[in-house]
Amino acid sequence: MALVTSKEMFAKALKSDYAVGAFNVNNMEIIQGIVDAANIENAPLILQVSAGARKYARPAYLLKLVEAAIEDTGLDIVLHLDHGEDFEICKKCVDDGFTSVMIDGSKYSFEENIALTKQVVEYAHDHGVVVEAELGKLAGIEDNIKVDARSATFTDPDEAVEFVERTGIDSLAISIGTSHGAYKFKGEPYLDYELLEIISNKLPNTPLVLHGASTVLPEFVARCNEYGGNIPGAQGVPEDMLRKAAQYGICKINIDTDLRLAMTAEVRKYLIENPADFDPRKYLAPARTAIQSMVQHKMKNVLNCTGKR
Ligand code: G3H
Ligand code: 13P
Ligand code: ZN
Repeated sequence: MALVTSKEMFAKALKSDYAVGAFNVNNMEIIQGIVDAANIENAPLILQVSAGARKYARPAYLLKLVEAAIEDTGLDIVLHLDHGEDFEICKKCVDDGFTSVMIDGSKYSFEENIALTKQVVEYAHDHGVVVEAELGKLAGIEDNIKVDARSATFTDPDEAVEFVERTGIDSLAISIGTSHGAYKFKGEPYLDYELLEIISNKLPNTPLVLHGASTVLPEFVARCNEYGGNIPGAQGVPEDMLRKAAQYGICKINIDTDLRLAMTAEVRKYLIENPADFDPRKYLAPARTAIQSMVQHKMKNVLNCTGKR
């Protein structure tokens, strides 16, 4: 039981037909819900922290909460920086004790992305920390509709090989059809399995990462809206399609939005049904349980990682 890097987890996942779940954390209840799920499912686990989460919860608190989760459950946990946007935040997280960082240079040119990523790899590897980087751009809803237009931003396989060789990264986030958030791409959900196969054949030893892997099922959104929410969510890639990606080369799958929806639905429900109540524990306890159920559901039905610890 320790804070570990993802090296061993990914080595196992690479040889098998499952992916490790990387869940975003912002506070104690979210952390507890996720680790309880991993404990019950006996599953490998990555907890990831965005710059926004780090600012909200404050670095020292998040670190101590994750340490407490390890002590409480006996799990090995990877603590990962999600979407680090520059060298400074990656360095801070390495110095704070994170075991994995993502440098997201996907908005830069190929050469700029390589230069930035190399700088992070050098520092992180000197400190025993692993690095994820991203090549290709995930579509946003505003980027609009057509699959052909969308695929122009997908990861190029030859660039991926060159990128991995020149940067020395430990894992690579690729763009093959998913997008972030609750307002997913309109139009037919689509994952480019052919492209995934080409990339994983060219990079057989590089764990591949899928961001934007919340499905935002209409029933998840409806549950929030039933109790006064007004979330115009648009469904993402269906869970069975993500499961197939986990079976064919994807080693890490990032999920945040579906946990937010699950948690918010419970808070809304409790407060609407109990308008005279004002004890935060009363609405945060069912919210924590909703996180746990959602994570167990993802582990079983999307990640296929139950029992793979
Ligand atoms: O992909 C980003 C994650 O969902 C984190 O979102 O920056 O709002 O914490 P955040
Ligand atoms: P979702 O917004 O689809 O949950 O994606 C989360 C993510 O990719 C975090 O890096
Ligand atoms: Zn992401």
